[in-house]
Amino acid sequence: KDIQLLKGKKLLVTAGPTREKIDPVRFFTNHSSGKMGYAIAKKAAEAGAEVTLVSGPVSITPPFGVTTIKVETAEEMYGQVMKYFDGADVVIKSAAVADYRPAQTSDLKMKKKDGSLMLEFERTTDILRTLGEQKSHQILIGFAAETDHLEKYAEQKLKSKNADLIVGNNIMTEGAGFGSDTNVVSFFRKDGTVAELPMQSKEQVAEALISEIDQLIKGRIT
Ligand code: PMT
Repeated sequence: KDIQLLKGKKLLVTAGPTREKIDPVRFFTNHSSGKMGYAIAKKAAEAGAEVTLVSGPVSITPPFGVTTIKVETAEEMYGQVMKYFDGADVVIKSAAVADYRPAQTSDLKMKKKDGSLMLEFERTTDILRTLGEQKSHQILIGFAAETDHLEKYAEQKLKSKNADLIVGNNIMTEGAGFGSDTNVVSFFRKDGTVAELPMQSKEQVAEALISEIDQLIKGRIT
């Protein structure tokens, strides 16, 4: 596999969860480990691409030869992604971005009180949707992490976010989704075809995605 499929291409990859602050000791987040996005960044760099990785808080080491930018919140991720979007040829949104954040944050630790606690949440910016609205030359790839109706939701995301490809994973499937070293994904394409991949390491999924991107760049699939 010496062919540098992505030589000269600029890739922007997002990975990991976001962390939405409640107070100085508490936050709202999800189970993303960053493994999927980091594997994509690593394999894309090996394939000759110039890779910028915008990463939420994770405990894994940034891949060699990749410009890694660490962020915490969905809004910070949005800001960094927009900074690199114009210069990118391909954008891959593998991060698990919080859809909601606490409407109020407290600068001091919230003290516990008797009874239950109600927290209000507000929407974060939908980064993928914004990219889909603003894209010109870029190939835009989103992920869909679902517990049910993967095909229906992935196809909806493909259209509503104006993406060029959705990588769907059913996170209820053994060996798929958050935290594991493997994933089970399907590529949902704009021409309506779906490629179902077997369970394999996240690095192998990344390699399959890179050859899919190569085909998209060459216009062999739409
Ligand atoms: O990190 P790992 O532990 O390796 O796990 C990998 C993974 C399960 C996180 C990954 O494979 C994955 O599916 N990532 C997307 C998770 C997700 O947030 O999916 P979603 O269906 O909620 O979001 C759909 C798409 O919109 C995603 O591309 C997401 O990055 C994007 N999004 C979501 C919300 C938001 N405010 N802005 C966004 O851009």
